[in-house]
Amino acid sequence: MRIILSKSTEEAVDAVTTIILDKLASRPSMVLGLATGRTMEPVYAEWVSKVRANPIKMDKAFFFMLDEYLGIDENHPSSFKSYIKDRLIHPLNLAESQFAFPPIHLGGEYYERLIKEAGGIDLQLLGIGVNGHIGFNEPGSSVKSRTREVELTPETMEANKSHFGAGKMPSKALSMGIGSILEGKELLMLATGKSKATAIKYLLNHHDDESCPATFLKSHPHFTLVLDPDAACRISLNI
Ligand code: GLP
Repeated sequence: MRIILSKSTEEAVDAVTTIILDKLASRPSMVLGLATGRTMEPVYAEWVSKVRANPIKMDKAFFFMLDEYLGIDENHPSSFKSYIKDRLIHPLNLAESQFAFPPIHLGGEYYERLIKEAGGIDLQLLGIGVNGHIGFNEPGSSVKSRTREVELTPETMEANKSHFGAGKMPSKALSMGIGSILEGKELLMLATGKSKATAIKYLLNHHDDESCPATFLKSHPHFTLVLDPDAACRISLNI
């Protein structure tokens, strides 16, 4: 596991964006797994501005989204499909056919097959939930879990409900499983803000612990964790 401790949120976002764009530039046909959430908003904004300033070819790349809510239309303004359309697909004029979305009507096995047919995910971008979830793999998820329907915990619903305004927050999602995520050739997690500090401290002090699914990532040979000072504020490094 590699940890990048950044001096500011901007520096953390820049580190993540640079890793992604360097890889895309050197391997234009790469397969990327993408995450959503507030943490990733500045990553996509910087990705767009960097590519506009220094164009790189992205038309051969392919993207898999990590998860999606169930119970809302995929074109709902708060769906993760709309999120990535607004932040990456439209600003960079990418083709929607370069993206695969967890198929809310077809189920997880179909998605797993698509990932396999694409040759697997080269680089998986990840955030972390306040309770240590990855994707929507909530505490209690098995390390062997595959893409499937999941129930959101009250904590996750509380953290995400503001995206739905006065509308009803979905209580279910389709998420790549922990087993599916661990098959990514490289994993890149970004955590920013004080709300993630407890989960990050737990992640660094525990291994293979179902109560904090992110701990499973530590067994991956190519896992990079990028932290801003707030997310890192509860850890102490004995150097
Ligand atoms: C979301 C997504 C995750 C994300 C995490 C953190 O609900 N399912 O992919 O990494 O929870 O979200 P945020 O960055 O908004 O804190």
